[in-house]
Parts: sequence; C-alpha cells; structure tokens
Amino acid sequence: MKLAALLSVFILGLAGSTGVRAQSAEPIVIKFSHVVAPNTPKGRAADEFKKLAEQRTNGRVRVEVYPNSQLYKDREEIEALQLGAVQMLAPSLSKFGPLGVRAFELFDLPYIFPNKETLYRVMDGDIGKRLFEMLEPRGIIGLAYWDNGFKQMSANRPLRSIEDFKGLKMRIQSSKVLEAQMKALGANPQVMAFSEVYSALQQGVVDGTENPMSNLYTQKMHEVQKHLTLSDHGYLGYAVIVNKRFWEGLPADIRATLEKAMQDATEFERAIAQRDNDDALAAVRRAGTTEVYVLPFRDRVVWHRALLPVHKEFERIIGRDFIQAVYQVAADVEKEKAAQPARQEPKERPGPSR
Ligand code: LMR
Repeated sequence: MKLAALLSVFILGLAGSTGVRAQSAEPIVIKFSHVVAPNTPKGRAADEFKKLAEQRTNGRVRVEVYPNSQLYKDREEIEALQLGAVQMLAPSLSKFGPLGVRAFELFDLPYIFPNKETLYRVMDGDIGKRLFEMLEPRGIIGLAYWDNGFKQMSANRPLRSIEDFKGLKMRIQSSKVLEAQMKALGANPQVMAFSEVYSALQQGVVDGTENPMSNLYTQKMHEVQKHLTLSDHGYLGYAVIVNKRFWEGLPADIRATLEKAMQDATEFERAIAQRDNDDALAAVRRAGTTEVYVLPFRDRVVWHRALLPVHKEFERIIGRDFIQAVYQVAADVEKEKAAQPARQEPKERPGPSR
C-alpha cells in the first residue's frame, strides 16, 4: 500500500512537472466579450481579429470571442475587464460614462457628425487619442475605434414630428447625453442593457428605442416595432479596449503582431459597417413588419434645432474644447467637399451649427 501511495505521488509529480512544461507551451488566451450578434460589424470584426491574431502568432495566441452578452452584459463587461476576467472588449462609446470618463459622450451628441469623414477624423486624430489617454488611469488601454453607424428611431407609433415622442418610454444606453436627448424630444428615457431590449419592447416595458439598423435587425427588434424613422440623429461606434496589465505583460513581439492584427481588423470593420447597415435596412423592409419612414430634410432641420441645446448643456462635462474641435473638423470637411464640386454628395443631414 505504502509503495502504491509513493508511486502515485511520484506519478502525480511527473504529471505535474510535464503539466508545467506543457503549460509554458500553452497559448496566451484573449477572451473577447461583446454584446451584439456575430453578424454585425462589431461581431464580424471581432472574428476577423481572432483569425488574424491566431494565424499571425502561429497559435501562440488564442482568441475566444463571446458574442451576444454570453459572458457579460454591458456594465458587467467593463468591470470584468478591469478585474482581468476578460482581456478585450469593444463597448459602445456611449458606455464609458459609468467608468467616470464622461468625455466619451461627445460621440452621443445629436447631429454632431454630419458625415463619416468628420467622424473618422475625430476618432483617428487628437481627440480620439486624448480620450484613450483618459482610460489608462482606470487600468484600460484603447486600441482602436470601430464603426457601426448612424442611429434610427423606432416605436409602435409613427415618429415623424417631435410631438410624436411625447410621453414615450425610450430605451437608451447608459449615457447622460442620450438621456438629455430623449428628454429634449419630450420622451421618457430608460437605461437598459442591450441584451434586455428585445423582451422589454415585446412586453411593452419600453415603447421604443434608437439603434443603427444592424443592431435593430440582428436583435429582431423590427418584429416588435411597428414604426421606424430613418433620422440619422446620432451616432453609435465602439472603442476596442484591453486590460492594461495584461497587454503590457505580453511578450513584445506578440504585442506588436496583435497591434497590427487589430489595425487590419479595424480597416476590415470600417469597410463593412455601412454595407451591413444598408443590408439590414433592406432586410427590415423585406420583412414587412415595420413601416419605414425617411425623415425629410426639412424635418431633420427641425429635429436638429430641438436637439442642439444638448450640445450646450454638456459643454462643461464633455469639454467645450472637444465640442468646438469637432465643429471645426466638420467645417474643414465641408470646405474640402465644396472645393470638389464634382464629387460633392447631396446634403443629407444638417451639420452642427457654430
Ligand atoms: C446598445 O446597447 O444599444 C449598443 O451599444 C449595443 C452595441 O454594442 O452595439
């Protein structure tokens, strides 16, 4: 018996030591959690990053993508990242407020981006960089900005004029700017995790919501929303973020390879975002469950006028310099477009007023 016990200790010991050796050859695991469907711009780009990261590190890195709030809901996922339970996320830019970085709500200001050119210049320029710097003291590193699209309004009643919003319970993300936006329209904003929106709409806990088409369609919200207004009144995009300690602890060659993979996944993401949203709109029209109303330009001007005070209201919180800098970028883009009349597109939404 004694011998058997000793032998088993020896065998276990051997197994343990090979285990340690095997462990050193184990891949580095990146858990990438997100809340949307895999067939959205964010979902597809997360999968693209996984593919590139695993190929280019020859399997030294394994990326596990968990879509659809499988692991964590909105708020929990940021806490999980800070605790190191997951390593990578791509939350919407509207969800950084609870982390104490309110300046990200810049992206929520209604009608602040008259076009995607302005948006990309802001994300990829000094503002985008300064926002990422604000995350570092919270143990987070920002790697990239991903696109989704301009948001549309939906409800079970037509939303054509501002008066139509009166008293409606509208689901929003956890952003004070979005709260103010809905109040400016006369609606009653309700913060809710993304994973709960479909059933809240179905059960009438809320009456309506705002989202880019890709989110609305992939969550089947059109099945429980009779009316959709294409208003492009606001923007929804993402920051891809990682746990700082994890990222800085990676071997330098691996980190460099992953940074390049992220750059390429970002290019891929921005190239597919608009098309995914256009396809989603076409699919909603085909489904025939929702009446689609295109807000005419003259009414966009009215909505814009009603929502513009929200910019002023948040100057102190977001930073007047940030808001003014976006106006300036928008003006520069407008001027450049005007200088190329042949390529000028029809004006679709009113720009920010200065
Ligand atoms: C939402 O909560 O509506 C969005 O932030 C979901 C997402 O990640 O696109």
